[in-house]
Amino acid sequence: MALLAQRIGNLGTENAFKVGADIRRAVDRGVDVIRLNIGEPDVDSPEHVNRVGAEQILAGNAHYTDAQGIPALRDAVARHVSSTRGIEVDPGRVVVTPGAKPSIGYTMQTYVDPGDEVVYPSPGFPIYESWVTFVGATPRPLHLPEERGFAFTADDLAAIVTDRTKVIVVNSPSNPTGGVLSADDLHDIAGVIRERCRPDVRVLSDEIYEHVLFDGARHRSIVAEEGMAERTILMSGHSKGFAMTGWRLGWVVLPTAEEAAVFTQLNINTVSCVPPFVQEAGRAAYEDPASVATTAEMVRAFEERRDRVVPALNAIDGVVCQSPKGAFYVFPNVEGMCERLGIVEAWAALADEVRSRTSPSAMLQMFLLYRHGVATMDRTSFGVIGAEDQHFLRLSIATSLERLLQGVDRIAAAAEDRDGFRAFLREERLWEVSGSS
Ligand SMILES: Cc1ncc(COP(=O)(O)O)c(C=O)c1O
Repeated sequence: MALLAQRIGNLGTENAFKVGADIRRAVDRGVDVIRLNIGEPDVDSPEHVNRVGAEQILAGNAHYTDAQGIPALRDAVARHVSSTRGIEVDPGRVVVTPGAKPSIGYTMQTYVDPGDEVVYPSPGFPIYESWVTFVGATPRPLHLPEERGFAFTADDLAAIVTDRTKVIVVNSPSNPTGGVLSADDLHDIAGVIRERCRPDVRVLSDEIYEHVLFDGARHRSIVAEEGMAERTILMSGHSKGFAMTGWRLGWVVLPTAEEAAVFTQLNINTVSCVPPFVQEAGRAAYEDPASVATTAEMVRAFEERRDRVVPALNAIDGVVCQSPKGAFYVFPNVEGMCERLGIVEAWAALADEVRSRTSPSAMLQMFLLYRHGVATMDRTSFGVIGAEDQHFLRLSIATSLERLLQGVDRIAAAAEDRDGFRAFLREERLWEVSGSS
C-alpha cells in the first residue's frame, strides 16, 4: 500500500506561490530581484475597510458564523451583482468563500464525474487545469489566440464542445493574458452554449478581475446573456478589486438555491465558515462610497504602467507584446528571444528526464531571475496541456513604474546576453531550479 493516495498525483499547483523558493535563493546569492511575478495589487487594502475589520475583532465578532456567509454580506453581493450584471439575484443563491479560489474546486467536485469533459482557457489560471485532472475529467484546453488579444470566439468554442462537455470555464478579464471578451463575443459564445451543449452544462464564469478594466471599458458578464443565468456559476471576490488578497474573501452566485446548498456543504466540510469580521469588512467594501475612489485610483495606476511597459517590451528584439484590456498583467511572446539566446536549441538537447521537467520559457524565466534579477512567470505556469510550443512570460504590472521599467531594461539586456545564457546552462543544475515542475 502506497503512502499517498493515487489521486494526489493528479493535483497541479500555482507556481506563483512556488517560485518564491527560487527568488529567495537568488536573493541569498546577492541578486537584487525585481518581483514581476506577483499576482496581487501593490497597495494595501483600503483604510475604510481595514477599520471595519479591526473594530469587529475588538467588538468580539470572531466566532463561528453562518457557513453560507452572513446575510448582510450575501445581500450586499446580491445587490452588487444585480446592479452590475442586470440580473435578479436572490441572496439565497450566494455563498461566501475564503477567497474566490475555492469555487473552482467546488465546481469540479459538484458537477464533474470522471470522463466528463471540461473546457477551460489556456493560458489560464492554473487551478482550472489542476482540478480538472484531479477529479479525473478529460481536460479540453481552449487555446487563446494571441492575434485576437487572447479573446476566443464562438467558433473556437463550437469547435471544442461535445456532448460530454459538462463545465465551460470563462475568465474575462483574464489572468494571465489581460484579454477581455467583447459584448459581441459574449453574445455569440452564449449562443453556442445554448444551442450546442446539454442543458445541464455549467459555465464557470471567473470574474475576479471585474473591477480592473482599462480604456474606460465597463465589465460585461456572460451571466447577462439569454439563457445563461440558469447555467452560470458566477465567482468573484475582494482580492483584486479591493486589494484584499490576504483577507481571503470571495463569493459565488449559483444558478439555484439547491446548488448553493451544495457549495455551503462543501464549505462546512472544509473551512466551516469565513471569519465574520472579514465578511463585515467585505460588506463595507461594497457599501462605503469611498471604495469607488480607491479602486479607480489603483486601476488608473495599472493603466498608466501598461501604457509605458507595452511599448518598452515591444522595443526588445524577439519580444512581441499585446496590450491588455484588463487585469494587471502583460503576457509577451518571447519566442524570438528564446531562439536568439539559443534556449529552444538548448532545451531540445537536454536529457529526456530534465527536458520533461522544464520548457524554453521556464529556462528563460530562471535565466532572467538568477542572472538578470527579474522574477517573472513562464507559460507553463498557466496550463501545461498542449502548451509545448508556446513561449510566453507573464509580468505583473502591480509594481511601481520605476521598478517595472528597470525590470524591462534588464530583460532587454538579457535579450543580448547569449554568452551569459551559455554560462548559465553550464553552471546551473537546471533540474534543481524549479522551472515548470
Ligand atoms: C483568474 C483568477 N481566479 C481566481 C483567483 C483566486 O483569487 P483569490 O485570491 O480571491 O482566491 C485568481 C488569483 O490570482 C485569479 O487570477
